[in-house]
Amino acid sequence: MTGSMQQRHHARALLRECDRLHNEVAGIKQLIQNADILRRAHDTARFERLLFTLDANRLAGLVELLRTTDHESARLAPIRYHHLLQALHPATTLGKVIQHIDYAALRPDARPYLLGPFLNLSFGNAFPRLCLQRSNPASGRLVYISPNGPSEEDAWRAHLPAIRDWLGGDWELIRHTVSVAELEQRTPLPAAFPFNSRSLAPGHLYAGVDVKTRQHVHIPFADLPSGTLLAGATGTGKSNALHILLQSILANLRFFSSVYLVDGKDGVTLQRYARIAPGKVHVLWAEPHLWKLTTHLVEFMRARNADQRARNIDNATGNFVALIIDEMSTFTAKPSGDAKHPDNKLHARFLDELAMVARRGRSTGIRLFVTAQEPVAEQIPPTIRANCLNTISFKLPIDAHATALFGQLEGLPADPRHLQRGRALLKNGVTGEIRHVQFPVMGTPR
Ligand SMILES: Nc1ncnc2c1ncn2[C@@H]1O[C@H](COP(=O)(O)OP(=O)(O)OP(=O)(O)O)[C@@H](O)[C@H]1O
Ligand SMILES: [Mg+2]
Repeated sequence: MTGSMQQRHHARALLRECDRLHNEVAGIKQLIQNADILRRAHDTARFERLLFTLDANRLAGLVELLRTTDHESARLAPIRYHHLLQALHPATTLGKVIQHIDYAALRPDARPYLLGPFLNLSFGNAFPRLCLQRSNPASGRLVYISPNGPSEEDAWRAHLPAIRDWLGGDWELIRHTVSVAELEQRTPLPAAFPFNSRSLAPGHLYAGVDVKTRQHVHIPFADLPSGTLLAGATGTGKSNALHILLQSILANLRFFSSVYLVDGKDGVTLQRYARIAPGKVHVLWAEPHLWKLTTHLVEFMRARNADQRARNIDNATGNFVALIIDEMSTFTAKPSGDAKHPDNKLHARFLDELAMVARRGRSTGIRLFVTAQEPVAEQIPPTIRANCLNTISFKLPIDAHATALFGQLEGLPADPRHLQRGRALLKNGVTGEIRHVQFPVMGTPR
């Protein structure tokens, strides 16, 4: 190859290399440009995520976001959230740039942030704001700060039903100070929980757990009226509850002179208590035995009344007598279809005497507990029912039965027509208080 050929060859190679480098530089430029576009898009998305005024649903998961996001977003998020709350307040001087918020359509995980505006609950012209550091919505903890205060505990409490409705779940106000209200979501009570003898208290009847406060419910035997009716449709938990009530009596036998257990289902489930305290705890199921017992109890009342008069005391605070009748309807029905049958006369007398015990037993220390599926005359005579001042009402699906026991059904802690198994409305006839309770389950078969 001549020298000039070599030079041309070399020049062509240089030109090719030049083209290649040129292309490479263009590629790199393109890459840089793309990265720039991406970064700008990312920034826009990042900050758009925080444009709560455009769409309140963007508040969803804000507490969680702040744990993982970058410094700038963490700085901006609370500012924008507080700005939204302020803009939503009727007293605000900010221009109304907020779109109408459809609270019913708001995502559930965005709702805790706007609880104040939803409830129209504000203190010192500002809605309480969710504390983004101390709250943990996912684990049922919401801390609200009222920056202008003072926060009002009563107002929070009054709004709890609306809070439960809107946020879903059973929220309670667990702490309150002048500027902070802390809400906690309670896990639902299990459908069934076992009886534990540690729930019992000396001198008290144990009546399950208050569904709202989760506290055990205890009523002093001395404060009980003479009669307590346990009503509820079949299979709703009456007999189980009776066994639980009986545990209190058996654990407090020293306060009782006699305990009579009457089983309308032929003594099958109560028989096991017969040997607990012979001479003190009696189990019976035959009708004539019950008739004799009520005659005895009426005589006992008279004797005790006379004794109390002589000693000038008017209320028994010990030496109680418990009479527990499961399935009252068995004993309410007339024994014979023949009106002249002598048993019918004895039966009529029995009903009179039982009504007398229910009416006058309180001052003489008699404590009567009866179960009936329906509060109707065929199951429990009205004279007896009217004197059962305390009622433990399990599910009563029929309106007329529920209203027979409660009158108005609005405003009760739970609807008696839709109670779950083992739950009841406990009405204290002495104080007028009505509580929603759940009874534990007895461990042994009934
Ligand atoms: N407190 C409770 N918690 C969960 N389950 C319960 C509870 N009480 C009762 N149950 C369930 O309901 C079933 C029926 O209960 P129970 O025998 O007490 O009803 P009842 O109201 O006495 O019915 P009946 O009127 O037919 O005698 C029980 O076997 C038990 O499985
Ligand atoms: Mg039963």
